[in-house]
Amino acid sequence: MALFHKAFPIFWMLLEGVLAGPWSAWMPSEISAFEGTCVVIPCRFSYPDELRPSAVHGIWYFNSPYPKNYPPVVYKSRTNIVHESYMGRTRLLGDLIFRNCTLQISRLSPELTGKYYFRGDLGGYNQYTYPEHSNLKIINKPTIVTPQEVVEGSEVEVSCVVPDNCPEMKPIVSWMNHDDLAENSVYGQVKENGSTWALVSMLKFLPSRENNGREVGCKVTYANTTFEFDGFTTLDIKYMPRITQVNSSVEVIQGTDVVLVCSVDSNPMAVISWLREEDVLHEDVGGNLTLHLDNITYLEDGIYTCVAENIHGKENHSLALAVMYAPWKPVVNVSVVAVEGEPVSILCSSQSNPEPTITIYKDKKAVTMGVYQNQVTLEFASVSHEDDGEYCCIAENQFGQRSTAFNLTVEFPPIILQESKCTAARDTVQCICAAKSNPESVITFELPTRNVTVNETDREFVYSQKNGYTITSILTLRGEVDSQLYIVCSARNLYGTKNQQLQFHHSNSLMWAKVGPVGAVVAFAILIAVVCYVSQTRKKKNMNESSSFMQTENPPVVFSGDYRTPGNLEKSEYGRDKRLLTKDLGIDYANIDFTKLSTKDSYTLTEELAEYAEIRVK
Ligand SMILES: *[C@@H]1O[C@H](CO)[C@@H](O)[C@H](O)[C@H]1NC(C)=O
Ligand SMILES: *[C@@H]1O[C@H](CO)[C@@H](O)[C@H](O)[C@H]1NC(C)=O
Ligand SMILES: *[C@@H]1O[C@H](CO)[C@@H](O)[C@H](O)[C@H]1NC(C)=O
Ligand SMILES: *[C@@H]1O[C@H](CO)[C@@H](O)[C@H](O)[C@H]1NC(C)=O
Ligand SMILES: *[C@@H]1O[C@H](CO)[C@@H](O)[C@H](O)[C@H]1NC(C)=O
Ligand SMILES: *[C@@H]1O[C@H](CO)[C@@H](O)[C@H](O)[C@H]1NC(C)=O
Ligand SMILES: *[C@@H]1O[C@H](CO)[C@@H](O)[C@H](O)[C@H]1NC(C)=O
Ligand SMILES: *[C@@H]1O[C@H](CO)[C@@H](O)[C@H](O)[C@H]1NC(C)=O
Ligand SMILES: *[C@@H]1O[C@H](CO)[C@@H](O)[C@H](O)[C@H]1NC(C)=O
Repeated sequence: MALFHKAFPIFWMLLEGVLAGPWSAWMPSEISAFEGTCVVIPCRFSYPDELRPSAVHGIWYFNSPYPKNYPPVVYKSRTNIVHESYMGRTRLLGDLIFRNCTLQISRLSPELTGKYYFRGDLGGYNQYTYPEHSNLKIINKPTIVTPQEVVEGSEVEVSCVVPDNCPEMKPIVSWMNHDDLAENSVYGQVKENGSTWALVSMLKFLPSRENNGREVGCKVTYANTTFEFDGFTTLDIKYMPRITQVNSSVEVIQGTDVVLVCSVDSNPMAVISWLREEDVLHEDVGGNLTLHLDNITYLEDGIYTCVAENIHGKENHSLALAVMYAPWKPVVNVSVVAVEGEPVSILCSSQSNPEPTITIYKDKKAVTMGVYQNQVTLEFASVSHEDDGEYCCIAENQFGQRSTAFNLTVEFPPIILQESKCTAARDTVQCICAAKSNPESVITFELPTRNVTVNETDREFVYSQKNGYTITSILTLRGEVDSQLYIVCSARNLYGTKNQQLQFHHSNSLMWAKVGPVGAVVAFAILIAVVCYVSQTRKKKNMNESSSFMQTENPPVVFSGDYRTPGNLEKSEYGRDKRLLTKDLGIDYANIDFTKLSTKDSYTLTEELAEYAEIRVK
């Protein structure tokens, strides 16, 4: 029965009013009071009406309903004999006649905690211990009740429950350590529960994360006593994560080890993640998360975000991690070959952080430059042969520099250089024709007055040498030179042909060197004699000029040197036979077997032939 009542106190209370049987009692199954104060246990009982007892007595037992067990007597109406623990402490407030067994126990001490049973004594055998009993609890702390979950920002009520079952002593409840809680207010309320009473003090406030872990106290005092009971509760306030510390945007140098730390305040613990753009790099539950990026490369440059999340919310913080590095080796889109006059555009690009300064140099001179640009373009609206050459593209920033060389090749038609001329010496004429072109040109010497054209395949007379884009051809004629002789140099490549009549220069120094000091005196005499010839030849020459070369800027040269006018020149046969060049000039060779010249295959070495010093006049 006792168990039944305990387990279903409410059910029991309902039954009591309606179905009060002949032997039944009612009292609160649980009642509590503070140590040192008192408690009044309200109690009623019933017995069969037909008994009509002359006197009604009652006994309160402690912890056992059975007299045979000699339980401590708490109160006895027949005598004053009670257990020593209860002496002077108990008083029956109810009137047994009116079936009111309300009991007061004063000066409560902890050992009085336990079950209290009432036994009705109606005389004779009509004695009965009611199984219904009260469980008394002696406490020394108020109960603080907090809601299951306290979340930051939503108003909460914390209550302090103080039993109020001693009419003589009224509890006074106050709160401690609550003054700075946001929007706090306190109000009291009396609550009844199964005829026991409690004073409930409510503390209302708006919780914040700063209040988490705060100990809030409730104090109970009684007027005119020194009794003081207090209880504390630690506030457990849930709140969304807040990132308290995280790196700000930073520049790092490629190859270094980078550490990023994100510290989070949250309750409960947050899941912290480090993301780069959208990718999760590292994730863990805790108060902070460290991201290690060892030997960082430019590929890891980007926006890093720390995200902290718990069931109450989510926060993120982003930072830019700039990885600095020296420029890459510049790339030139292609090695360029262009024809003079064409537009040319050459792109040189590199990559670095910060952006590089790219400069294109030619011959140590900057030709184009781009500051903080990944690429520069070298442009020629119309490329010239002077633009041909080796270029160097250099990309640099404060972390280093790299360069790439490239060649711009410009193809252009021949240009006959200024040094092209003929030099007449005592018994030879040497003509130099130098032409610049790309690709290499073929130089041809034309002697219109003799109807002869020679080129370097005629090794006997022409020697060529090449130096870069310049080809120099030397034509050597031996013996006397007719006054009408003029020589046209023609240079030709696939882009064009350039003709130029070569000017004659008198080579005194050469002559003096050849003849020596004694010969010089002789030669000087001859020179004076020759002056007469010169004045004669001038008239003839003017008549023999070929109109086809009149447009050249250099008119035929008037020879003033020691050349004799060959009288038989006009009568000679002209043609492609190279012997005409020599035979008809009346030149003979000292070192060369002249007869061999008729067969092309038997030519002697070019070097020997080119060495005009070996040629002698007959
Ligand atoms: C029983 O007695 C107490 C004390 O006198 C009284 O307060 C209470 O109201 C009585 N109960 C009933 C049911 O009359
Ligand atoms: C406390 O004591 C004062 C004076 O002694 C008295 O006036 C007052 O009523 C007492 N209060 C209580 C609750 O007993
Ligand atoms: C990030 O912050 C942490 C802690 O403040 C520091 O140790 C670390 O060096 C910082 N990282 C960078 C790249 O500045
Ligand atoms: C850093 O990375 C580069 C390229 O991957 C590598 O060559 C170098 O040895 C690394 N350095 C260290 C200290 O690991
Ligand atoms: C960071 O927060 C902002 C605003 O609260 C949101 O728009 C953004 O998507 C978040 N970023 C990440 C990576 O969660
Ligand atoms: C080099 O790149 C530039 C720009 O892209 C382009 O205009 C040019 O034609 C390219 N040159 C060559 C030779 O490919
Ligand atoms: C450019 O041409 C020169 C001469 O022909 C050569 O020595 C050099 O290696 C070339 N440079 C490049 C980058 O091709
Ligand atoms: C050169 O030869 C051609 C034919 O081979 C001839 O027609 C021309 O008249 C000649 N010129 C001279 C100046 O002899
Ligand atoms: C040089 O002249 C010869 C005949 O004299 C000719 O066959 C040859 O084609 C010429 N060479 C060039 C490169 O013009």
